[in-house]
Amino acid sequence: MDRIYIFDTTLRDGEQSPGASMTIQQKYELALQLAKLKADVIETGFPISSPHQFEACKYISQHVNGIAIAALARSVIKDIDAAYMSIKDAEHPRIHTFIATSPIHMKYKLQKEPDEVIEMAVDAVKYARNKTGEVEFSPEDGTRSDLDFLCRIVEKVIDAGANIINIPDTVGYAIPEEFGAFINKIMNRVPNIDKSIVSVHCHNDLGLAVANSIAAVQNGARQVEVTLNGIGERAGNAALEEFVMTLNVRKDTLPFETNIDTTQIYNSSRLLSNIIGFPIPRNKPIIGDNAFSHESGIHQDGVIKRRETYEIMTPESVGRDSSQLVLGRHSGIHGFSKRLSELGLTLNEEEIKKSYEKFLELADRKKEVFDDDLYVLVNDQIRRQTATYVLEYFNIQSGNLSVPTATIKLRSADTVYEEAAVGDGPVDAIFNAVDRVTGTRTKLIEYNVQAVTPGRKALGEVSIIIQVNGKRFVGRGASTDILEASAKAYINAINRYKALVPKNGKE
Ligand code: KIV
Ligand code: ZN
Repeated sequence: MDRIYIFDTTLRDGEQSPGASMTIQQKYELALQLAKLKADVIETGFPISSPHQFEACKYISQHVNGIAIAALARSVIKDIDAAYMSIKDAEHPRIHTFIATSPIHMKYKLQKEPDEVIEMAVDAVKYARNKTGEVEFSPEDGTRSDLDFLCRIVEKVIDAGANIINIPDTVGYAIPEEFGAFINKIMNRVPNIDKSIVSVHCHNDLGLAVANSIAAVQNGARQVEVTLNGIGERAGNAALEEFVMTLNVRKDTLPFETNIDTTQIYNSSRLLSNIIGFPIPRNKPIIGDNAFSHESGIHQDGVIKRRETYEIMTPESVGRDSSQLVLGRHSGIHGFSKRLSELGLTLNEEEIKKSYEKFLELADRKKEVFDDDLYVLVNDQIRRQTATYVLEYFNIQSGNLSVPTATIKLRSADTVYEEAAVGDGPVDAIFNAVDRVTGTRTKLIEYNVQAVTPGRKALGEVSIIIQVNGKRFVGRGASTDILEASAKAYINAINRYKALVPKNGKE
């Protein structure tokens, strides 16, 4: 079996999905889970792009072990310096430098001649190799680049010291057979290609990112760049869970193996979804609610008689437990904290104690506490502690014949603010009152409410997306009262904006 290295870029390309920005603490939590999942490399960010990105890469490099840590840099000195400074403390640091090589990118974006691009790439790789033993080079928009030019630049950067050559399908334009042949030609035409590992990085604009990645490994690629749940720029990147499980399920025809602990897939995927607030679509392969449920009578009958009639993999193999019910009000704090850590929720002692108190309150109201309740409960708890604004109190007056009016009290550090506002409905009135306190002007892009778990006593979770100064922020809030959940979600989105955009507005 040939080993395929998994390079996870959830924290970099994934975070580029509109609305998926994460705080440093959230990136760190996810990085710990990616180490548990046994990804080979994680790309933690693009350090030159903002102080926040830099600090996140640095924090993860200093605190997450057992996994290689990469940071992205354009092929310019200041980017490489920032990338290096952010990852130098990692056990296995890697600088990932890129420059565009397609005619359209070179002419219009870079406004450089091809020879100048080669020179910049070579200089960047040499400079980076003087700093770290591992340097990855990506010719951006690789699949729309001229093959001869691509082979020329690849040969030169390998000579300059690049040990990993990553071919990106930046705009998700490739189709599998053609992409496989493209990789094959690079493998055969570049004379020193054996001195590097060939990697691919596929975007999903045509829904072909995983298929293209599979075609690439069939033609010699040995590293594949992926993200959890397939998040990433535009339509996203190749989904880790789909790529890895395709190799696992189709070993008969794909003689490749990864180091991924597939039983950690489901938890990793849910942790991400909870952190960024993007729900997992029900029909999503491997991780969606419906991925292992059989609706038609014929299918149910078949599965009861023999599971393999309609199941090509078991839910257990990806860490999905058929009995999701975990805890009740008699569960002790040890069982509670063990379950949290199994779910990838990393809390300190104080946070566990506080979350446990909330858990007991919830278990009293709602006999059955599911894993999904735990994610929401813990997120709610942690959010309160790191939040700029915390909801202390709200009151709503609303009816079909009156003007909806909201009064709210928010706390920020030691100061309590109180405001009232009217709105088109009770939710609008709450949002207007919050705006008065926080002084933020937002545009509401999306508002969703859903029950976290089954039953009439379920927690309701509101997830929203707001836009502030052209940038989107997700917020989530949970409560058995959906107006309270709405207030919490809106405040959470504003807190994210405050946390991710420093006062000088430079994020
Ligand atoms: O899609 C892309 O080309 C990238 C590169 C930076 C690898 O994300
Ligand atoms: Zn990308």
